[in-house]
Amino acid sequence: MYYCSKFLKMKFSNRLIDWYLQNNRDLPWRKTKNPYFIWLSEIMLQQTRVNQGLSYYLRFTEEFPTVFGLANAAESEVLKLWQGLGYYSRARNLHHSAKYIANELQGVFPTTYDEIKKLKGVGDYTASAISSICFDLPEAVVDGNVYRVLARYFGIDTPINSSKGVKEFKELAQTLIDVKKPGTHNQAIMDFGALHCKPQNPLCATCPLNESCVALEKVQIKKLPVKEKKIKVRKRYFNYLVILTDRKETVLNERKGKGIWQGLYEFPVLESEKSIDETALVVSEKFNQLPLKKYQISLFNEKEIVHKLSHQHLYTKFWIVTVASLEQSMISWSAVNKYPVPVLIANFLKDFNPSH
Ligand code: ADE
Repeated sequence: MYYCSKFLKMKFSNRLIDWYLQNNRDLPWRKTKNPYFIWLSEIMLQQTRVNQGLSYYLRFTEEFPTVFGLANAAESEVLKLWQGLGYYSRARNLHHSAKYIANELQGVFPTTYDEIKKLKGVGDYTASAISSICFDLPEAVVDGNVYRVLARYFGIDTPINSSKGVKEFKELAQTLIDVKKPGTHNQAIMDFGALHCKPQNPLCATCPLNESCVALEKVQIKKLPVKEKKIKVRKRYFNYLVILTDRKETVLNERKGKGIWQGLYEFPVLESEKSIDETALVVSEKFNQLPLKKYQISLFNEKEIVHKLSHQHLYTKFWIVTVASLEQSMISWSAVNKYPVPVLIANFLKDFNPSH
């Protein structure tokens, strides 16, 4: 944790608030503490620039001046008004929550962080924004602007999109908040990030915090904040067919072609687009290619085993297929452990006892 004296924290917050009082943007949602309006504005401004969100906010509040108006509207009407803002699940969640507030809460907006966060589409950021702006609760917001200001000012290089970073920045933001003016503090740091401590070409020469900014002193402004490159993880669904005959024989195949596990052995596998049940399995082409006559099938693991590789997550089910015999080349179960197999299969073999 970053040690920072109470005095320094106060200085940080006071300077930001002073800056804000002189530079803040004149925006319609800044003139109200009505949680319904603040909620609308905060949802609209996610992934959206203030300039773009503004006209939508004005149209929405004119069309639906209360939560009841929004609740009673048809979904198509809400989506039509949202048209062009993008991320339409925001509009659907907004509509859903408006109906909940109107019908279940008699139109009274929840007043605590926890209750606000329960609304569909509301996460930590939005719940903190609404509870601080409308109800003066000391809940620190952390959005992209806040990450940038804190990373630079305190010289923090923990990636902001790592779980460690999310926790660290939230904790730091929470220690900095001005408990007497949490709403103003939160909006000050966000506006300061958007207008002054900008991603490119921040205005360091005229910055009210420039005498104590770590990144400025260490020439790290361009480097901070750090974002981790996330590799795209592919989800795959493997269904292994663990065949067992009366003579305790099974089938193992060598994995051919380029790719994971080339040359290793595995049970016959059906790869599916998504998780499948027994019905879908037994009608699949792969299953029907096996010369199975009378068989019994059971699922070894009710919950999919997730095997994590660097670029793929394998959601795996082992299906135990017992048959009297099978007309294809088989190996004795006792020989299975002589074959090189992927760890996923080795782990299964440790847990599975064919005589049961
Ligand atoms: N971005 C989203 N909500 C904001 C707010 N209330 N103040 C400043 N920037 C914001």
